[in-house]
Amino acid sequence: MALELLKEGHRKALQAVGDLEHALELLRGGQAARAAAAVKATLVFLEGEQRVHFRQEEEGLFLYLAKVTGEGPIQAMVGEHDSYWKAVSTLRVLSQESGDGAELGRLLEHIVSMLKSHIEKEDTAYFPLAEERLSPQHLKELDEEMELIARLG
Ligand SMILES: [Fe+2]
Repeated sequence: MALELLKEGHRKALQAVGDLEHALELLRGGQAARAAAAVKATLVFLEGEQRVHFRQEEEGLFLYLAKVTGEGPIQAMVGEHDSYWKAVSTLRVLSQESGDGAELGRLLEHIVSMLKSHIEKEDTAYFPLAEERLSPQHLKELDEEMELIARLG
């Protein structure tokens, strides 16, 4: 259940990635205002539901997985979350400025590729590892913790 929720979070995140790719196409087509509007709409998810998802991983799944993998791989994933937040806060600023769009375009490309590779790593390595190695008791506890985080926001 806990992992299903996290996988669902990834499906939603990939939809947001698609929205950012669409914004990038608009930008490249010279439609800067429409691109900025699309980015602002997507930021609602990137700064909202995505934040809850990352907290569920950092304060839930990763703590259990660290017992299996050691701290190193988990620190690397948390580091990727931190890079994401820096990029998203720059995205917030750039979406409110009227520049030539070049910087916004580069940042969108960066966020799209960062999120795709991060999600792929979790889907193909970390989630299967959790399914294989976490005990039913740990998965149950994780489920409860994730629900609590989702409720607190
Ligand atoms: Fe994730």
